[in-house]
Formats: sequence, structure tokens, C-alpha cells
Amino acid sequence: MSASEATPLIDMKNVRFGYGERLIIDGLSLTVRKGEIVALMGGSGSGKTTLLGLLGGRIQPISGEIHVAGQNVPTLARKELYTLRRRIGMLFQFGALFTDLNVFDNVAFPYREQTDLPEPVIRDLVLMKLEAVGLRGAHPLMPSELSGGMARRVALARAVALDPMLMLYDEPFTGLDPISVGIVGRLIKRLNSAMGMTSLIVTHDLTETLRIADRVVMLASGRIHSDLSPEGMHSSTDPFVRQFADGLPDGPVPFHHPARPYAEELFAR
Ligand SMILES: Nc1ncnc2c1ncn2[C@@H]1O[C@H](COP(=O)(O)OP(=O)(O)O)[C@@H](O)[C@H]1O
Ligand SMILES: [Mg+2]
Repeated sequence: MSASEATPLIDMKNVRFGYGERLIIDGLSLTVRKGEIVALMGGSGSGKTTLLGLLGGRIQPISGEIHVAGQNVPTLARKELYTLRRRIGMLFQFGALFTDLNVFDNVAFPYREQTDLPEPVIRDLVLMKLEAVGLRGAHPLMPSELSGGMARRVALARAVALDPMLMLYDEPFTGLDPISVGIVGRLIKRLNSAMGMTSLIVTHDLTETLRIADRVVMLASGRIHSDLSPEGMHSSTDPFVRQFADGLPDGPVPFHHPARPYAEELFAR
């Protein structure tokens, strides 16, 4: 193994971040190796989207190191940060298509914005990316003519247009029917290996996650609570992992919002 292969693509060390006084990320360390697909799970509001924002340098940590491809993101100058961001693809739950552009022009957008490639070359690249998500034939359609699953696949083709080394997905399965979830999940996995990418996926869809991820990382109290293989998730006896794996409404993540005792409140005057 060469030195570059041994260097993790993501290496977060003792990261702390908060909004105002409130710490969201509190001493988090996480390593993702090149080529891996890592799922990031955790309760709503636990800081998953925040973590993606830290990786892309959109927000600054209070302390700690956030290395992406060997560069410490918080220390980068604006120009270096933009260069790095061009190598990171993002697909967000509401990463909607431009509704007034057809499928072809949606996927062509990053090439036209970020490169000086001539139109005939862009045409070939767009059709190649659409072919990769099985939608080359849909290139003249408008977004309003697509099903939810097709729209998500076009957004995926657009997200990987510039051949990112790292893909960040924020709830890519949300709002899709079960068949589309399976299709998008398989595409994420296939693109990751075919294009030599590394993927970090924030998701609540455990079934699909266990099918495609190499590791499932659970976030709680601002740090990594557990880091398990899909098999490890199945066999874990950790109450927090079990609550997620079994979809239990109550457990270490409480069903009730913190409150004073019910009896006390009932009889309070
Ligand atoms: N711009 C912001 N200003 C203040 N608080 C925020 C902001 N964005 C998110 N938060 C808070 O930070 C916490 C973590 O948010 P987020 O990372 O979006 O959670 P998740 O993606 O895990 O659901 C939440 O409590 C949320 O309300
Ligand atoms: Mg989120």
C-alpha cells in the first residue's frame, strides 16, 4: 500500500462546534478511508448536517482538526477552500433540480459554470453521466415530468458531474418510495466503486444503509457513539444502537421532551 492510499480521505480529530453557547459537536473524531461508504446515523438534531457543513468548510469549528484529502479545512484560505470544494460532490434531500431547465441542462450546469469545456464535450459528458444513472433517454424532459425517484437520480448525475473524490449525501432516500430507495442506494454504491469515490451518507433508512455501507457510525451527544460494520449493527446489544436498529420509539433517545415530573405539573397551581 502506498502512503497516499494509507492516508484517510477524512480525518477529524477532537472537533468541537457550537451555535452560540450550545455545543453541537463535542470532541468528535472520525476517520474515513479512501473508497469507503460510511453511513452517519443519529437522532434528529444530533448534528449530522452540521458535520457535513464542517467537512465542506461552510462552518468553522471552535477547535480540532478536519482533514479532507490531507488538507486541514479550517485553516484553508478562500481560494484553496474553493478548489477543495470542487472535488466534493453533495446531494441533499432538497437538493432540487432547476425547475426551468430540462434534465440535460441541469446536468450540464456544473460543466458550464466550473469548466471551459466546449459544448460538444459537455454533451458527451452529460450523456455519459445520465447513462450511469439509467436516464440518458430522459435528457429532454423537464423536472416536472419526472417521478421523485427519477429526479433524485438526475440530481445524483449532476452531483457527480465533476468527478468528485468525495460524495456527501444528506438524507438521499427521504421522500422516495421503497423501490426508488433501492435504486438510488444501488447507484450510490455502484458510482462509488466505478468512479473511485468515497461516500459519507447521512440517513435514517437503516435497511438500505445496511445493504450498501461498509460502516455505520452513530452520532450522539456530539461525538461518535459507535462505529460498526453492518453485521456489528445486527448483533450489537448496545441499547442506543438497538433503539435505532429496531426502530424503538423510546430508549436512550427519549420519546418525551425533557419536562418536569408529570404529577408535579398536574397538581401545580
Ligand atoms: N444555523 C443554525 N443556528 C442555530 N442552530 C442551528 C443552526 N443549524 C442547526 N442548528 C441546531 O443545531 C442542532 C444540530 O442540527 P443539525 O446538524 O441540522 O442536526 P441533524 O442533521 O442531525 O438533524 C439542532 O439542534 C439545530 O436546531
Ligand atoms: Mg440534518
